This record gives sequence, structure tokens and C-alpha cells, in this order.
Amino acid sequence: MPDNTLRVLQITDCHVSAAADTPYRGLNARAEFEKLLPAARTWSPDLLLLTGDLAEDGSDEATAWLAARLGEFGVPMLAVPGNHDEAEVLAQHFPLSSVDAPLVHDVGDWRLVLLNSARRRKIDGHLDDDQLDALAAAVNPGSGPAPDHALVALHHQPLPVGSPWIDRYPLQSPERFWSALEGSRCRAVCWGHVHQALELETGQVNALAGPSTAANSLPGMEKFTLDPRGPACRGLLLGPSGQVSTEVIYAEG
Ligand SMILES: [Fe+2]
Repeated sequence: MPDNTLRVLQITDCHVSAAADTPYRGLNARAEFEKLLPAARTWSPDLLLLTGDLAEDGSDEATAWLAARLGEFGVPMLAVPGNHDEAEVLAQHFPLSSVDAPLVHDVGDWRLVLLNSARRRKIDGHLDDDQLDALAAAVNPGSGPAPDHALVALHHQPLPVGSPWIDRYPLQSPERFWSALEGSRCRAVCWGHVHQALELETGQVNALAGPSTAANSLPGMEKFTLDPRGPACRGLLLGPSGQVSTEVIYAEG
């Protein structure tokens, strides 16, 4: 990839709590996150893309802790809430976040469009008409001067991932989401929520699920089944001609 490739690091489903020792799926979410940080730093991102469930309890304390740790990267941080987050709390600590409307962030040859698919007290996802209309306008080639390529990020999976335990809680009415992207400049869609790394075929875009920094499941499971490879995140290399290449980053050692 040439030098003007944008290096985006997707970090998701950190599930940290206000109290440092609160267990998450039998693990310590803060400790798992910390294990991953050296490899994440070595990858040297230009931008952090945070796709929700950052705080297990939605608390100010947990969100602040994560914002402080991620702030040490010294790069822009773009965030969407997950079903565990409080969107307003998230927005206080991550000002570049999507609450009521999509966040549109242009950088070089790429436009990043972030959507808030989370609803209070609901595990599954939803995008209202206003967000879908704004999405279509943001990625439509006829919508005026804008970067040539777009990446769209949200928390919930817009297509089945093959794991019944989490496919029960997808983005609802996903056909409305995909039709907003038809013929658009969108090259990749990234989400969290499913706690596993997947690259899926859509025939339209790169469809990418990001792994959790806390606990992942082996793919294709009826019930969550801990993946022994540990915490992970996704590196995305976005090229100036719309190329997308990606890798999963695990903790060192
Ligand atoms: Fe999660």
C-alpha cells in the first residue's frame, strides 16, 4: 500500500466497568485490554475507530478510563455507542461520536460515516429513517464534493454472522441499511457486537466484524464459547484508490 494509505485501528467491545476488578465472562476486561495495547501501539494507527460496548455498565468512570488509555495514542478517536454504552456519556469522553445523527469525518481520500444503531435497554440494533437518509446522502456519489471512498461503521451486525447466540440480536431491517449503500462510494462496513473477527462476502463491500478486546467467541457456535487466542482488534489499511486490506491483531507473546 502507498504512503497515503490511512491506517485505521478498530477497537471494540471493551466491556470495562467502573470498578477495576468487575469480571466480564470470567475475565478482567481492563487487564485483557491492557494486554493488547502494546501490539496495538506497534501497529501505529492514524485513527482509532471505536465500535461500541466500550463500557459494560455505561458508566462515566469506565468510559473515562478507556478514553484516557486510548487518548495516549495521540490520534483522532471516532466512536459509536453499543447496547451497553450510554450515548451521552460516550459523547462526553469521545467528542467525535454519533449520538442522534451520523458522524461524518473526512480524512484524505476517505469519508468515515459512523451510525448509532443502539437503543436504550435493547440488545438488538435499529437505524431510524433520519439516520438512513443521512447515511445515503453521505455515501452517495451525487451528493457533492467529498472523498472518493467511504467506510461505514456501526455497532450491530447488518447481516448474519453464523453464530446463533448473537445472531438473535442483529441490526433490524438490514435491507434498509444495504439499500442506502447501493451504488455508493462505500467500500467497507465495520461493526462490533459479535465478539469475533469475520470477513464476509456481500458482493458489494468488504463486510467486517471486529473482535473484542475483552473476550471473543469461536465462530459458528450455538452459545458463546471462549476463543483462547485472547483479546484482539482489527487493523484496516485504506488505500487512496479505495483498496481495503485488513488484519487481526492479537496481544504480543
Ligand atoms: Fe459486546
